[in-house]
Amino acid sequence: MLGRVNHIAIAVPDLEAATAAYRDTLGAAVSQPQALPEHGVTVVFVELPNTKVELLQPLGETSPIAAFLEKNPSGGMHHICYEVDDILLARDRLVAAGARVLGDGQPKTGAHGKPVLFLHPKDFFGTLIELEQA
Ligand code: CO
Repeated sequence: MLGRVNHIAIAVPDLEAATAAYRDTLGAAVSQPQALPEHGVTVVFVELPNTKVELLQPLGETSPIAAFLEKNPSGGMHHICYEVDDILLARDRLVAAGARVLGDGQPKTGAHGKPVLFLHPKDFFGTLIELEQA
C-alpha cells in the first residue's frame, strides 16, 4: 500500500533559524518560505535527492502545529508523509484494520494540492502519518 516517502515534516519555533541551519550547517538546498494560511503554517522545503523535508512554523491563531510546539518548544518531527496510489482504497483498508483517521475521515487537499489524510499517531507507534495520493 505504501509508496515513496513524500516528505518528513519538522515543526520549528523559528523558521529563519531552522532554514539557516539546513542551508548553512547541513548544506541543503532550501526554498523561500511559503505562507499557507489555509493550512495554518509557513513552510520551507528542504530538497533532498530522494525526498524532501518540510520545516513548518505556525501561522495564525488556529495553527494545527501550535499545540505540538507547546509540548516540544525547541521543535521536533511532526509527521511523515507516505505516498499511496489510491487514498480512498488505502483509507478503507486502514479503517477496516482498526486504524483511526483524523478529522471526518474524508481526504482534504494538502499543501501540494493533492488529497491527503492523517492517521492517529497512537495507532502507529507515536508517529503522525500523512498519506498523500501521489
Ligand atoms: Co505534510
